[in-house]
Amino acid sequence: MKIVSLLASPHGLNGNTAALLRLVLDGAEAEGAKAETIVLKGDTVLPCLGCDACHKKGRCARKDDFESVKEKIFAADGLVLASPNYIFNVSAQLKAFMDRCCGVIHCMSFWGKYGASVVTSGGGGDEPVTEYINHFLVTTGALPVGGLGAAMSVMPDCGFTEEVREAARELGKRLVDAWRTKMVPPQAEKGRNEFRERMLALVNYRKEEWPYEFQHWKERMSV
Ligand SMILES: Cc1cc2nc3c(=O)[nH]c(=O)nc-3n(C[C@H](O)[C@H](O)[C@H](O)COP(=O)(O)O)c2cc1C
Repeated sequence: MKIVSLLASPHGLNGNTAALLRLVLDGAEAEGAKAETIVLKGDTVLPCLGCDACHKKGRCARKDDFESVKEKIFAADGLVLASPNYIFNVSAQLKAFMDRCCGVIHCMSFWGKYGASVVTSGGGGDEPVTEYINHFLVTTGALPVGGLGAAMSVMPDCGFTEEVREAARELGKRLVDAWRTKMVPPQAEKGRNEFRERMLALVNYRKEEWPYEFQHWKERMSV
């Protein structure tokens, strides 16, 4: 299994989120997965300009790394999104990536991939953030297998409690197991199917303005 993870912290590989993500990837790699981590610094994926080029042409007009990150995700089987909890939500770096995926969402282009979310915070309250990330994954067509948050204020100085370490490795393992067995989590599948109907209706309604997306659904997702 090939996994791409996006690490959306300004502290990059030296931060808390990177350390938790590493444990998740350790769990996945122990099951034979190959993982690549892309650090989203502020200028890797810039904010969306709302120009609609993605809907019309299938490509973003901004000149940064977004298209190459997208290609790497297309070539992978799994996508792990990792962010610090910034004011009860994802970091601006991850939100910029999510916004840039507007065309991906309309086309549900990550269909068939498995996903997971990883969040660290100072004081906790991470569940709404992992849920938000997993909801995003569903709207891209991916199936999330779970999310993990860790409040650093209650972690030991040397890193994470054994319970969190175990939960992280288990999440990585679950990701690989789900892909290997083609598991379809019922709740995620229900949400994904409902969203698919919504996107089909939207893209059909806008077929004149968004020819790329209309063509995508017609050719690849059997309208
Ligand atoms: C701008 C900013 C906003 C933050 N907002 C929250 C928050 O709402 N709740 C919380 O518990 N911690 C918050 N924190 C703390 C970080 O989530 C926490 O330190 C996290 O582990 C940092 O991860 P990193 O080392 O990977 O960047 C915030 C930190 C910053 C810099």
